[in-house]
Amino acid sequence: MGSIDTTRYSLDGQGTPAGPCAMVIFGAAGDLAKRMLIPAIYNLARSRLLPDQFAVVGVSIEPYSTEQFRERATENMHQLSTGPVDQDSWGWLANRIHYVSGDFRDSNLYTQLRATLDRVQKEQSTEGNCLFYLAVSPEFFPVVVQHLGAADLTKESNHVWRRVVIEKPFGRDLASAIALNQCVGQVLKETQTYRIDHYLGKETVQNLLAFRFANGIFEPVWNRRYVDHVQVTVAEELGVELRGGYYETAGALRDMVPNHIFQLITLAAMEPPISFDAHAVHDEQIKVLRAIQQFSPERVLDHAVRGQYGEGTVNGKHVQAYRDEPQVAPDSQTPTYVAMSLQIDSWRWAGVPFYLRTGKRMAKRVTQVVIRFRKPPLVLFRKTSVASVTPNELVINIQPDEGISLSFEAKIPGPVVRVGAVNMDFQYSDYFGTTPSTGYETLIYDCMMGDPTLFQRADMVEAGWAVVEPVLDVWKALPPRDFPNYAAGSWGPAQADELLHRDGREWRDPVRHVHRPTAPLAQTAVPTGKS
Ligand code: BG6
Repeated sequence: MGSIDTTRYSLDGQGTPAGPCAMVIFGAAGDLAKRMLIPAIYNLARSRLLPDQFAVVGVSIEPYSTEQFRERATENMHQLSTGPVDQDSWGWLANRIHYVSGDFRDSNLYTQLRATLDRVQKEQSTEGNCLFYLAVSPEFFPVVVQHLGAADLTKESNHVWRRVVIEKPFGRDLASAIALNQCVGQVLKETQTYRIDHYLGKETVQNLLAFRFANGIFEPVWNRRYVDHVQVTVAEELGVELRGGYYETAGALRDMVPNHIFQLITLAAMEPPISFDAHAVHDEQIKVLRAIQQFSPERVLDHAVRGQYGEGTVNGKHVQAYRDEPQVAPDSQTPTYVAMSLQIDSWRWAGVPFYLRTGKRMAKRVTQVVIRFRKPPLVLFRKTSVASVTPNELVINIQPDEGISLSFEAKIPGPVVRVGAVNMDFQYSDYFGTTPSTGYETLIYDCMMGDPTLFQRADMVEAGWAVVEPVLDVWKALPPRDFPNYAAGSWGPAQADELLHRDGREWRDPVRHVHRPTAPLAQTAVPTGKS
């Protein structure tokens, strides 16, 4: 996204195909590759955004032949594709898939990979350009990168590029993120390193930039003078499913906050960049992270809340407690919920709290950023107290219903003057229809095009960890005594509500639809002098 160019690509068939290249997927037999990456590559192929000179090389420990891997990929596509599988597009792609089996720690694997890439380069004219995608568990990030370097597979020349996409989690705290950056930096230049955060592949997340900076009317009110506070909610209905092993070592804070949620916060809070060049955007994002007030241990106790779900009901179905999930310790202290209040010490945001919350097994799957504006200083209706007016809210819905809505007060029709909050709604699907997408298409395409805007720079990752590090430290030193402290299917622990009540505020209920004509919210009877 070097510039906001809405015509550069789209999944409905417009856009420039990427240049010749091979995409190597480490962890090709794993879940991410199966569910997201291969379907995303297929979607790009179907949208004619891949070049004819293209190949995929899958790498995993599983002992498949290329034929067997293609068959498996075909079966998976029929189950997991985001739409009906177009045989021509899939056939085109399947013929370009190759497979190399081996142990990521074994240098022979990389010798084999080199030979396969040389062959593919001849057969498919990929011109030596390679995108290595590390869809592997984090302990293999340094292993694979070092082996790629040792096998001379990361060397670029004038016309040949080599890029490496590294999945999350990028480190598990500040020290490990710095160490990983250093290790990666010994092999790769920063321009070759693509640290992925799949939240940046979501349309509405990208639209935050367009919304803020391609419109003249919002930016003037996007600051402490007009904004009362900001809320970011990332709520999931799912529990940890079969990822208990990983999740026990991570927990909600590491899993969601320094990465996904900080992406949302930085895009919502940053200053206008001087251009939409990757560096310019990243420079502004990192200023936000650095301006977040540091958590002292006392502040952690007052301004950060953790929770773990007990059994409960989600969507009408009884579900078990986190501690009963597979691979989870029966006395686990791992948080599955986090809420926090942050202060951004900048001229734009001083004194405006940014509240964030994320949790598993919550009442509803919803990701949204809410900008709550200040109340008007007075109401024209004399005897109405200002307190009875619902403040304007701008809600940026990231999922599941992508869109933006602005609430404002309106008169409810009728002889008695009553006001209620109504909504102006923009739904992505109404305007643009729905295009099958996994959310990874843009990111893979951008990497092939050499555009790192939607990826994380080394310093951004470290700045994110630096913010949460004091919270991790305090929570480690003081294990929770009240887990499980929220029921599955609820909106999290009571302390998270108190976090806002203390400031005279409350979480926006994401289930509420303020524009429903039969049930407007906050109706206020206003005396008019008529009786
Ligand atoms: C991943 C986390 O990065 O994001 C998961 O590891 C989480 O725990 C997922 O469920 C949420 O992504 P999405 O796109 O479903 O909101």
